[in-house]
Amino acid sequence: MSIVYLNGDFLPIEQARVSVTDRGFLFGDGVYEVIPAYGGRLFRLPHHLQRLQDSLDGIRLSNPLSESEWTRMLENLLDRNRDRAGDNNDQSVYLQVTRGTAEKRDHNFPADIHHTVYAFSSPIPDSDPSTHQDGVAAITLDDIRWAWCNIKAITLLPNVLLRQQADERGAAEAILIRDGNAIEASSSNIFVVHNGVILTPPKSRIMLPGITRDLVLELAEQHGVAYREEDISEEQLREADEVWITSSTREIVPVTKLDDKAVGDGAPGQVWQTMLMHYRKYKDAIRRGEAD
Ligand code: PDD
Repeated sequence: MSIVYLNGDFLPIEQARVSVTDRGFLFGDGVYEVIPAYGGRLFRLPHHLQRLQDSLDGIRLSNPLSESEWTRMLENLLDRNRDRAGDNNDQSVYLQVTRGTAEKRDHNFPADIHHTVYAFSSPIPDSDPSTHQDGVAAITLDDIRWAWCNIKAITLLPNVLLRQQADERGAAEAILIRDGNAIEASSSNIFVVHNGVILTPPKSRIMLPGITRDLVLELAEQHGVAYREEDISEEQLREADEVWITSSTREIVPVTKLDDKAVGDGAPGQVWQTMLMHYRKYKDAIRRGEAD
């Protein structure tokens, strides 16, 4: 049975209850994180907690827990769900903080904040081998989201609608175009490769600063793979030799079909293979406790 964390307690998911007056429910007034854990070790936890802090600052909500309290709670949650994870004990943790409950529905912040803090973990399933063998399809769509996409807000309706359109067209992701540039995807960051050089958009308010994105760039730097952080025009996206999407749950996935046209030669590319190898080595180091 799945054990979840809610406001200081660990309890079976069936018993977890949140008030209908919660501002997360009424306004989508909250933020979240998704953190993978390999072999029971949380992946890049300080980076995720820093982004959580930035998101909380972005919506003017105090942090309900200290860094050590978050760490202890999340490790405890992983332990309590150990028997649901496979032999390799790979799980991903979802956590969310909302501005909590208030007596009446009011757009203004309530005077007294009683955060709602919720977290659950799920086993990470083995990835579908075809994802790496053949790559996935993506489509492009207009970025209909708001102007503060750097905040990891639970208010994900645009992302949900965009992803659903992709799914209905047989694609795994929707790559979002704003002012003629490819920004990111509905729940992942994007990379392209041109003449052996990796390109990804620079961090800004209109995209989520992905933890996986940063790690890919760190690994490229460490291993001498050429990369640049710069805007990617829609035209560059369509002419790329390789396109990838990255996220904590998907890791690095090659996109081999974009809007029904082959990307490059239509197969996962060489630079992707190289970066996936570095990423896997890094993950193994996490499992051995030799990296964070
Ligand atoms: N989404 N961009 C968006 C819009 C995202 O929602 C995500 C992650 C990313 C990648 O960030 P990271 O590498 O830190 O996971 C980029 C998570 C996984 C989700 O919403 O479930």
